[in-house]
Amino acid sequence: MPPTNSKNDDALLERAAELIRGTTNAIAVTGAGISVESGIPDFRSAHGLWARYPPDQFATMDAFLRDPDKVWEMWYELAENLQGVKPNPGHYALAELEKMGHIKAIVTQNIDALHQHAGSKTVIEYHGNTDQIACTACFRHRKMDLSHRALGAPRCECGGVMKPDVVLFGEVIPEYALRTSDMLARGCDALIVVGTSAQVYPAAGLPFLAKESGAAVIECNTEPTNFTNVITDVFLQGPAGETLPKLVERVKSVTD
Ligand code: APR
Repeated sequence: MPPTNSKNDDALLERAAELIRGTTNAIAVTGAGISVESGIPDFRSAHGLWARYPPDQFATMDAFLRDPDKVWEMWYELAENLQGVKPNPGHYALAELEKMGHIKAIVTQNIDALHQHAGSKTVIEYHGNTDQIACTACFRHRKMDLSHRALGAPRCECGGVMKPDVVLFGEVIPEYALRTSDMLARGCDALIVVGTSAQVYPAAGLPFLAKESGAAVIECNTEPTNFTNVITDVFLQGPAGETLPKLVERVKSVTD
């Protein structure tokens, strides 16, 4: 297991900075953990979303088709909670690494659009986003309208029931996101994986794919994951909102 960085041990930070300083071909893969410091609960931590809304009842396609009104209760709440949330220093740090030319793209599992709001230009939304809703019959899209919350599951002009334009369990990843992320993981020199429990595939396969293709893996998480003992080269333990800005500062400070 890679050594974790204790308070004053910034050798790992320097190692991670060296890996990033030396490339214009890094990517980041992010999960819910990077948005926790923006006030959005993650899914699987003790007080995560799935503790209140069991995913088998609220986040699978079967559950949706069985009882769309019930499933919409959670999605309306989630979309409402996302109103007004702001990126945190972790999002801004990744946007800065893109601006400095080190990160080429972010593949995010998150649906909160906070990377884009922080200024990241190339963001692949692997699990969609809550901006749009899509008809399950004719696939027509329209903007999410929270004022319809009292009416339950929104209906399309064609009569079909509409769902949030996010990937529910049992649905496939949008073709563009799948292919592009795969290509980026295979081609990058370094991959920074931030705030994901590494439990949901195919997203969790991307860091493995990068590693197999010769990339270095830097992991930022508050606790070890399935990646840490197996493919992580540098494990930066701590909240992303603190760790990633330190990494950016270190990348900027060229030590002699
Ligand atoms: N900084 C860094 N990491 C954090 C922080 C933080 N401030 N807070 C929590 N974490 C870590 C947790 O330790 C955990 O490893 O973030 C991870 C969050 O894991 P999950 O809640 O499982 O979220 P995620 O990995 O994004 O889930 C993947 O599963 O439910 C589906 O579609 C949903 O996209 C989601 C996918």
